[in-house]
Amino acid sequence: MRSFYETRLGRSYVTTILSHSIFGLSGKCRVPGDKSISHRALMLGALSVGETRIHGLLESDDILATVSAIISLGAKVTQLEDQTWQVFGCGVGGMAAPSDVINMGNSGTGVRLLMGLLAGQPITAVLTGDASLRSRPMKRIMIPLGQMGVNFSAAEGDMLPLAMTSPTELMPITYEPPVASAQIKSAILLAGLAAPGETTVLENIATRDHTERMLEHFGAEVRIDGSHSGGKKITVVGQPELIGRPVVVPADISSAAFPLVAALLVPKSEILIEDVGINSLRSGLLKTLVEMGADIIQRNKAGAKGEPVADLTVRASRLKGVHVPAERAASMIDEYPILAIAAAVADGTTRMEGLAELRVKESDRLALIAEGLRGAGVEVEETESSLVVHGIGRAPPGGNTVNSMNDHRIAMSFLVLGAVSDYPIRVTHAETIATSFPNFRNLMNILGTDMRIEGDTE
Ligand code: S3P
Repeated sequence: MRSFYETRLGRSYVTTILSHSIFGLSGKCRVPGDKSISHRALMLGALSVGETRIHGLLESDDILATVSAIISLGAKVTQLEDQTWQVFGCGVGGMAAPSDVINMGNSGTGVRLLMGLLAGQPITAVLTGDASLRSRPMKRIMIPLGQMGVNFSAAEGDMLPLAMTSPTELMPITYEPPVASAQIKSAILLAGLAAPGETTVLENIATRDHTERMLEHFGAEVRIDGSHSGGKKITVVGQPELIGRPVVVPADISSAAFPLVAALLVPKSEILIEDVGINSLRSGLLKTLVEMGADIIQRNKAGAKGEPVADLTVRASRLKGVHVPAERAASMIDEYPILAIAAAVADGTTRMEGLAELRVKESDRLALIAEGLRGAGVEVEETESSLVVHGIGRAPPGGNTVNSMNDHRIAMSFLVLGAVSDYPIRVTHAETIATSFPNFRNLMNILGTDMRIEGDTE
């Protein structure tokens, strides 16, 4: 396997991709494994005793950062074949102090979940990331883990790099996160594994539940009370013995979203996307697109244990603008950039609310979506936490250059817009796509898009 460091060295170039309009997408594809589930499978494997065999692991930069991190903490990780990995863990509380700084690259999920895992190891660790990750808020994790007894020393603004020292015995807590965030919830639950007694997270809006599902799969006792003020009360019982388990990772709906929207927007398209994870706490995009008039046929399958899976047949459709309520945001938080592209081509206005969190993702996504769409000739209104896109009901002019600002989902979204615009769209810093979807351009071009690398420059 290529090590994480080789992968990062391999990314010391920048790539610009030019996406030209096309006449239709066809064929079938399977997008790479789910990023959220891949991080969790590796981390729970590292916290377990015995073998965890993971099938369908996403092999992207973000996930390889997590692989490197758990190796540096003492887990044994082997790539058996493409997308099949074996982890031998150290048990809850059994990890070794890392001998160097842990660099989590671009991965917000990776670093925040790792902080939860590290809280339960009585060691000191220093964490950092790339420029984007170093500008993202970590206080949201430091506060609850601090209440459990972890000591933090972080860069100004409570950002990375940070050092954390965990006590020999953590305190269990009950915590209500101030924002709907599966990363905060998961960090607390992972820390709670090492605390005696019960650790509880109160969610007012339910967020993706992959951690809870996987904790149960690995043998932890998790109690979920769905009657907590519209959300959930999630309790993990501390100090279980986790046992290594097989995990099958479904294809990532957040990656499937790109070929899916491309096929909806480019006339005469019809594609099949196989084995997509359709957990209802992740599939708000499907619901929204169907409301917009999308022709998507979902064939449910016997899922990988614990996670529902379906094949999706997608046909080109005439979409209309809709209102996307704030309550739906958590179930499609990563899909707003590509939804905004669909909204730009749809007939009429799409209003999206409850988007404050988009300002602190891999980039300020609200600002970049608005700027990129305006550059392509689409009228957009933006507030602190909402976006209104005035769809033009046909192919937009395009012809603009979008700097992805090292945000993979911004890069992929505007490359999809290029496939349906009058003039090609150029995306710079497209190498960032490797954080979540390394074979994106290839897979899309096999389906029929025309995305060309313009040239590598140092
Ligand atoms: C993720 C949770 C979301 C999402 C991220 C993955 C996870 O972040 O944006 O890409 O795997 O838990 P928040 O929990 O901060 O909303």
